[in-house]
Amino acid sequence: MTWPLEDDAAWRPVRQHWSLPEGLTYLNHGSFGLPTRAVIQVQGQYLDRAAAEPMDFFVRELEPELIAARDRLADFVGADRGNLVFVENATYGMNVVAESVGLAAGDEVVMTTHEYGAVFRIWHRKCEEVGARVVEAKLPPRLESSDEIVDAVLAALTPKTKLVVFSHITSATAMKLPAERITRAVQDRGVAVCIDGPHAPGILPLELDALGCEYYTAVCHKWLSAAHGTGFLYVHPQVQATVRPSLLSWGRVQPAVPETWQDEFTWTGTRDMATYLSLPAALDFLAEFGWETLRRRTHYLARYARESIANLTGHDALIPDEEDWYGAMITMPLRNDGRPWVEFRDTLRSRFQIEALVYDVNEQRFIRTSCYLYNTKDDVDHLVEALRVLLY
Ligand SMILES: Cc1ncc(COP(=O)(O)O)c(C=O)c1O
Repeated sequence: MTWPLEDDAAWRPVRQHWSLPEGLTYLNHGSFGLPTRAVIQVQGQYLDRAAAEPMDFFVRELEPELIAARDRLADFVGADRGNLVFVENATYGMNVVAESVGLAAGDEVVMTTHEYGAVFRIWHRKCEEVGARVVEAKLPPRLESSDEIVDAVLAALTPKTKLVVFSHITSATAMKLPAERITRAVQDRGVAVCIDGPHAPGILPLELDALGCEYYTAVCHKWLSAAHGTGFLYVHPQVQATVRPSLLSWGRVQPAVPETWQDEFTWTGTRDMATYLSLPAALDFLAEFGWETLRRRTHYLARYARESIANLTGHDALIPDEEDWYGAMITMPLRNDGRPWVEFRDTLRSRFQIEALVYDVNEQRFIRTSCYLYNTKDDVDHLVEALRVLLY
């Protein structure tokens, strides 16, 4: 089927594939994606199997099914099947990287000023532990060209830089960063690269081996609509020998013994494995729509949100209006009416049944609108009307 990108009537029934309550305008898939009903069903089947026959499930059947799901993911993100492991989320993956890079006293880790708060915490703590430091590459408030991003990162490098960490798509500011260009430029100076990619799978076509970064950590529970707790860590073959899980367990299902870096992540202790095992159901579901359709429809809605909010407020986004700069999410400046951002966010929910990300930077308020396949322009119109009532 060919999906008419602009025709909301065709898209309205699609919402039934998620468990969204009637009346909720959910524009925050970027914070918490919703697994599809099909994923939840498959997840439930695996949980039933684990509950009924744990010996069969964990010991006799799990490993080949887990490896098949992992291989499917590796193929999807353009990675050799030996270069990727499941981890429960990007946070776990990033912690593994922080423990594995061999950071020492005097080293520097460069991060852009747009990185995710928890990722800053991971690197600050690690740096404090060993006497290293985080150096921020400051991006200009309003961006016109990707050269500005590459230049800002390069300007932060010194002979002490051990690693550069940056998002593929930034979280709060919802901006695509030029990952290939940054990676090449940084590696040309002999520095390793770790990309924080939770917003990329599904929204950007990924070819991780070709991208060539040393580390890439991401999740499937955002834009692939997989079960919460489905993430992965990609590691380039050149640095795999130094990577190990943060928590040590058997590595593989006994009596098998781990032989590779990847094996060490297969059995990390008894846990819910249904998250990983239901990932193929998420990929199957989205493949039915087509990956181009997913990207184009969600960008179409994000662009509609951009135009509609700018028309209301008189203020545009801080990035160019081009698909190279944003995908399914757009962040817009808003008037700050003085109430704390949490209160404003929760007022959107309690008075208008709208969920969206709201935050402040130095008193300037922003709203990030995330658009997914269950959204229509009605959702954006409803948000704009709520903003008009509350602020304008
Ligand atoms: C850019 C970025 N990095 C890391 C994370 C952490 O993801 P998780 O909570 O799934 O580990 C997020 C979550 O929103 C994010 O947006």
